Amino acid sequence: MSSSEAPPTAYPSTSLKAQDQAPGKGLDSKLEPAANWTQLEFWDDEGKSPYLKEYEGRGLLKDKAALITGGDSGIGRSVGILMAREGADISFVYLPEEEEDAQQTKKEIEKAGRKAHLMPLDITSRENCQKAVDEHMKVFGKINILVNNAAMQEVCQDIKDIDLDIVEKTFRTNILSMFALTKYAVKHMKRGSSVINSTSVAGYMGNPTMVDYSSTKGAIATFTRALAQQQAPKGIRINAVAPGIIWTPLQPATKGNPAENMEALGTQAAPLQRPGMPVEVAVAYVFLASPMGSYFTGEVIHGTGGIEMQG
Ligand SMILES: NC(=O)c1ccc[n+]([C@@H]2O[C@H](COP(=O)([O-])OP(=O)(O)OC[C@H]3O[C@@H](n4cnc5c(N)ncnc54)[C@H](O)[C@@H]3O)[C@@H](O)[C@H]2O)c1
Repeated sequence: MSSSEAPPTAYPSTSLKAQDQAPGKGLDSKLEPAANWTQLEFWDDEGKSPYLKEYEGRGLLKDKAALITGGDSGIGRSVGILMAREGADISFVYLPEEEEDAQQTKKEIEKAGRKAHLMPLDITSRENCQKAVDEHMKVFGKINILVNNAAMQEVCQDIKDIDLDIVEKTFRTNILSMFALTKYAVKHMKRGSSVINSTSVAGYMGNPTMVDYSSTKGAIATFTRALAQQQAPKGIRINAVAPGIIWTPLQPATKGNPAENMEALGTQAAPLQRPGMPVEVAVAYVFLASPMGSYFTGEVIHGTGGIEMQG
């Protein structure tokens, strides 16, 4: 399909700019055009004009407390803001270099009338994972929702050149942290609580330029299914979301990802011919955490703009 046939949308899809950011230090504040974290796309009755409208909460998570990793930017930021609009207090973890984004997210959570607690911590250390849960408990006294969302990725074209330290760091960040955070959080969780993990289309299809990242994402899907069965008797639901190609700072901050790739991000691979906006997948996390998701456990919701997942 050529780009002239691209379905119309109120989200940016034709103004995507080539851009680069410091590897591993992606900032939403530098993303051009800006991502959308809070507005849903609606259509007029004629089906002619799409328009954007702010997400309105309905008290689905009233007085709950959520801990989100990677909550300063991208998908995690959107999840935090939407959950706050649904009535939850939010603590979130992020890399200290991303303080600027974290402060912006804090403002948005507070605008929704909820509390935000910021934890600039590197989750590759299990001590920091323990610290994050302890600090969250100290501030909010309960944990109803854990969103394991932080991740890193680097491009490597051939495994003969792969840096094994980066492979290890990718596994520590993306999947081993989930073991630690979930281990420490679950002991505080009551019936009705929920864990939601961010996996990826790459975990299903495999990305030949990011074999290590893809492997962690495949592991996350299986971690989710296995843990869901283990925790079901306790009434703790474990699910995952598999985003497709989403307009977040992870993309321009990926070491080895050419700046020009951002210009056409998602336009070829996704039938909707555009990247998704963080809000468009964040809604799935809200659903899974809320009472609407009560019969969902061990599931992966795919938000890919139509990219067909294999397996
Ligand atoms: N953007 C996409 O196209 C896409 C596609 C599929 C899956 N995902 C997944 O979505 C999730 C969120 O990513 P995003 O796209 O919103 O990008 P993002 O860059 O906005 O978020 C990544 C977050 O991870 C945090 N992080 C990374 N390493 C960390 C560490 N060692 N300690 C603490 N925090 C750390 C960063 O602070 C950042 O907030 C990730 O799991 C990613 O794999 C994204």
